[in-house]
Amino acid sequence: MFVVNKKQKFAGLIWMFALLSVAFASAAPAAQPAPRSNGLAQTPPVGWSSWNNFGDDINEQIVIETIDAMIANGMRDAGYVFVNLDDGWQRYKGARRDHPLEFDPKKFPRGISYLADYAHQRGMKLGIYSGPGQTTCAGYTGSEGHEAEDARMFANWGVDHLKYDSCCSHREAPKEELQKIFRTMSNALMTQKHGIVLHACHCGWGDIWEWAAGLGVNHWRIGQDISDDFNYPGNREQYYFDVLDQLDRGVGLEKYAGPGHWNDYDMLIVGLDGQSKQLVGTGASNIEYRTHFSLWAMVSSPMLVGADVRKLDQYSLETLTNKEIVALNQDPAGNIAHKVRDDGDLEVFARELADGSHAVLLLNRGAATATMTFSPRADLQAPMDRYSIRDLWKHRDLGTYDIPFTTEVQSHEARVFRIRQLATSANGRSVSDAAEQELAR
Ligand code: GLA
Repeated sequence: MFVVNKKQKFAGLIWMFALLSVAFASAAPAAQPAPRSNGLAQTPPVGWSSWNNFGDDINEQIVIETIDAMIANGMRDAGYVFVNLDDGWQRYKGARRDHPLEFDPKKFPRGISYLADYAHQRGMKLGIYSGPGQTTCAGYTGSEGHEAEDARMFANWGVDHLKYDSCCSHREAPKEELQKIFRTMSNALMTQKHGIVLHACHCGWGDIWEWAAGLGVNHWRIGQDISDDFNYPGNREQYYFDVLDQLDRGVGLEKYAGPGHWNDYDMLIVGLDGQSKQLVGTGASNIEYRTHFSLWAMVSSPMLVGADVRKLDQYSLETLTNKEIVALNQDPAGNIAHKVRDDGDLEVFARELADGSHAVLLLNRGAATATMTFSPRADLQAPMDRYSIRDLWKHRDLGTYDIPFTTEVQSHEARVFRIRQLATSANGRSVSDAAEQELAR
């Protein structure tokens, strides 16, 4: 009789298990990481970050005054709720193996949790900064080897956002290596009770847009650091990207972004006026800053103001607090604007919004004022026989149209419109004609 003893039974089970695993593995789809979501950043983060103006010269007083100013000047109510500390909050410069990661008690005498509470009590959120190396880009202690411990510390402080910055290193590293870096921190954050938005700051190396969302990253930089320029010839210092460089870098990447995971075109330069302590660049004109802002809204980039908000001039403040433009950025559908027409210096960008209307941006990159025409049929492939147009910078309804819309666009200006298809009623009057007459009464 064939007797199976316990040992043989056990070996048989192991074999069965091994065979089943092989069968399952070969049936499973190839190495693409399963999408992960921390449920955060369903619309792009909007707020302020300390880096573009202050560099690492930051402290508690600046952060508190910034929060107070954002409340007083209307920015918070226009949607700017994130207040993010960038590099320079840490106590020590040098490698993590030689120093712990602590806040600098001279700069932040009441600690980071005091600032998080201060922000939360006012309906705002606090962000912090670290990196996967021994040191951060400005030479402070990084998180390498201490990811779980640091994630716990940030969560205990009540921090809501982490910029995790590889300093554009590992440019040629295999994707698996890069993924490991960001997966480690993402996993560490996801085990915390307090949700923390994760920004992978990585200059777009390793086609990060293809895999970051799958790791639970909420936004990722698509290019190198922005400079305070609208269109500097080439790259300043052969490295920095100006506004149009960032814009061009994003063409083709639209499909990777959506609710919870966004292409990040870098922080805003509106209001820096060439005066930043940190950024290179000679500044841009009011019109150019407004164009930059409109473009970041259209592509749903995170919008983190880099200027000193305690000292914003009226024009910059009006630019930043245009709620109709911010609403495009925050539109819940999260459709990213595509370039729908490219006539050399004249370009048209458009996106469909959650309510079925469309946002349209006419950009003139040229040196002279130009006449531009927009046709829903040709540019949106939408058969709109009648449509209404609203100018989102003039805050004015321009009327109803059944032909292409033609207007002037100044050099480096972006005109932004919201267009809405109109149903035609039985008596031939468009529904909106009727609505406009209602309004006029
Ligand atoms: C890198 C980033 C910047 C900023 C600095 C801080 O250069 O790209 O946005 O965070 O590091 O050192």
